[in-house]
Amino acid sequence: MKSAELRWKFLDFFKDRGHKIIPSASLIPEGDSSTLFISSGMQPLVPYLLGQKHPEGTRLTDSQKSFRTEDIEEVGDGRHNTFFEMLGNWSLGDYFKKEQLTWIYSFLIDEIKIDASRLYATVFRGEEVIGVPKDSESVDILKQVFKTYGIDAKDVDFPENDGMQDGRIFYYPAKKNWWSKSGTPEKMPIGEIGGPDSEIFYDLGPDLKKHENSEFKGALCHVNCDCGRFIEIGNSVFIEYKKTQQGFEKLEQQNVDFGGGLERMTMVSEGLDNIFETDLFLHIIKKIEGLSGKRYRDDRKSFEVIADHIKSATFIMGDGDGISPNNTGQGYIVRRLVRRAIRFGKKLGITEKKWTKEIATIVTADYKDVYSELEKNITFIGKELKKEEEKFNETLERGLKELNGIKKWWGQIRRSSVNDMGSSGNYSQGTDQKREARELGVKLFYLYQSYGLPIELSLEELGGIIFEDEAIKSFNEELKKHQELSRTASAGMFKGGLADDEPETIKLHTAHHLLLAALQELFGKQVKQKGSNINSERLRIDFSFDRKITAEEIKKLEDMVNEKIHQGLDVVKRELPLEEAQKIGAEMEFGVKYGNMVSVYFIEDKKGNAISKEFCGGPHVKNTSELGTFKIIKEEASSQGVRRIKAILE
Ligand code: SER
Repeated sequence: MKSAELRWKFLDFFKDRGHKIIPSASLIPEGDSSTLFISSGMQPLVPYLLGQKHPEGTRLTDSQKSFRTEDIEEVGDGRHNTFFEMLGNWSLGDYFKKEQLTWIYSFLIDEIKIDASRLYATVFRGEEVIGVPKDSESVDILKQVFKTYGIDAKDVDFPENDGMQDGRIFYYPAKKNWWSKSGTPEKMPIGEIGGPDSEIFYDLGPDLKKHENSEFKGALCHVNCDCGRFIEIGNSVFIEYKKTQQGFEKLEQQNVDFGGGLERMTMVSEGLDNIFETDLFLHIIKKIEGLSGKRYRDDRKSFEVIADHIKSATFIMGDGDGISPNNTGQGYIVRRLVRRAIRFGKKLGITEKKWTKEIATIVTADYKDVYSELEKNITFIGKELKKEEEKFNETLERGLKELNGIKKWWGQIRRSSVNDMGSSGNYSQGTDQKREARELGVKLFYLYQSYGLPIELSLEELGGIIFEDEAIKSFNEELKKHQELSRTASAGMFKGGLADDEPETIKLHTAHHLLLAALQELFGKQVKQKGSNINSERLRIDFSFDRKITAEEIKKLEDMVNEKIHQGLDVVKRELPLEEAQKIGAEMEFGVKYGNMVSVYFIEDKKGNAISKEFCGGPHVKNTSELGTFKIIKEEASSQGVRRIKAILE
């Protein structure tokens, strides 16, 4: 079945069962700065799962755009992708396990004709420490469900070592069968909601031996062992718990959150074992074949990385939030995606200019009927991709020059060691060659680090070397060392939150501080920042406030900010211990974690009175007189209890 048909079948199936179809939320979370992206259908619906009334009622269905950063490196095995569509159905304190499990299997088996005998279920086996019991209720229902399809379903305890044991329903611990935004129960912060879940696995084939990548290595195969035979195609989460100081408490309402990846469902319904062969990727793969002159089967990983990454970048940039490749926040992830794709493009031998943009055009055409925002933003996406491609190509070119130097060095070493061998005739040169290969690995790592040149590419340029595995090994060792460091660095990278350091962006950043101060002066200190995004064209602030702001109030806010600009106030940065900064009441952004020493930006009048003080990494202008005229261009609701203002400087 084609993906478009499947998407509609799913939504219609639940519509027929009393659900309202709701549109996908943006990939960029609104009023929630704790994550960079929406990575599940559940995130935008949290307030309603907690009990707030949803305007469309208690039964909803959707196809939510989702992006998972943690899967970037996983792409390449035929079934991982970073951007995906999550088909979802929701009960907000309405139906529960019985309806959910009956319906979802009926959808898969009766509607999209998946072979029931290939489906397997998992359930939560209970954890005493958190006081949540084994989900026997789901097991009883699932047995009934399978019986309808002529299957006598046996339930089997956690098959850590014993394999399938002819089972159909398997109990697993929280590590596998508990769902919350943050993961397992112990990873959840106080206040977060989640619950036990029941996953649906599809059996791809009879090969039971592939255990290399499994955390259950050595054990017999079972549905959750990641050996490649079974693939998860959907998950019914029974969200009915909230973590509190005292432990897990039942929520007032029992919710259902079902999510299934459209890509995987399409794959299975088309009888394929690779998502990149479905029509959700087909045109992109064809385009890459055209650009590179290679076939997909020649280098599957490179094709998949390019197809996945450019598609994700297109969706993130296409959401209308002005996200572009840069060094912070979401923009940093876009940069990573685009650059990684370009590197793999080089590997495939793509030489054409502006090719990433061409792929984005295909993505846009493929999805225009479902996500019209892509088409609306295609000019922006194309422009940004072109810029990024040019920028990165320059860096790469410099890297290749450097590689030429290494090539010469390597050539000399090789010649001298061949000569050594000739004169001494001894065979210790094997050890020497290994050492040299390791040295080469370190140099190639430097090249990767400074210019983004991947080792595969460098080795190819060098024309193949003896003890290549040694070079790769030492490259990887260096990489590991630096990853530790860069993890710390990237934590810092997200702090500032500026899209770039263009002068316009910096000015808007200072204006952002003045605006927050004005909002608090006008509406009271309880107004808190809930999110922000600044680029060279405009600033955006999300803040807690529960009604529309009137035209007079907008005018008032503009006047207040402009007055501060005219007064020519100094902007001063001070490093303070966290406690002290809190004591003086500096503004913190909700949900952000800070270190022991923090920098606080003060905007002060001539007497040293602070008009604004905020935790902030900067940068800012020196004096507000540099800003020009402040103007609010939009005021709107962002989410429940959160308003959003967009403003510019003229
Ligand atoms: N929230 C669950 C998941 O993301 C099901 O939608 O897997």
